[in-house]
Amino acid sequence: MIKVLVVHGPNLNLLGKREPSIYGTKSLKAINKDISSLASELNINANIVQLNSEGEILDIIQKADYDALIINPAAYTHTSVAIRDAIAAVNKPAIEVHLSNIHKREEFRRKSFIAEVAHGQISGFGPESYLLALRAVRSILPKQ
Ligand code: DQA
Repeated sequence: MIKVLVVHGPNLNLLGKREPSIYGTKSLKAINKDISSLASELNINANIVQLNSEGEILDIIQKADYDALIINPAAYTHTSVAIRDAIAAVNKPAIEVHLSNIHKREEFRRKSFIAEVAHGQISGFGPESYLLALRAVRSILPKQ
């Protein structure tokens, strides 16, 4: 079974209440339920975490046991050379995910430090972005 680590970055624990006109009204718990059920359909073992601090994100990227990473680095997308370097260091396929289309928003959100080290980026489909990412993992990893 393919092991996928799903990392939700800072402030995503507030989904549902946080700026619903941008991020929607679905809670993180509900989003995670949908991720888990599609994962089992696709025969993927998904380990899902939400972390607010950059250091904890680095630790899990470095230490967890997984075949592919799905990460919404949230605000760290636009600031974190450290997360970028951790993804490059572990050398496992990473899919960068955003609920909103970061290219359609403020100028500062258009720069992603993660994009250069990601296999690809899925941005702008709301919670569906995570489900598309699971399907992307299935398509890039050999059948297991
Ligand atoms: C986000 C976009 C980021 O710019 C923002 O800081 C977030 C969420 C998204 O999922 O659309 O926290 O990653």
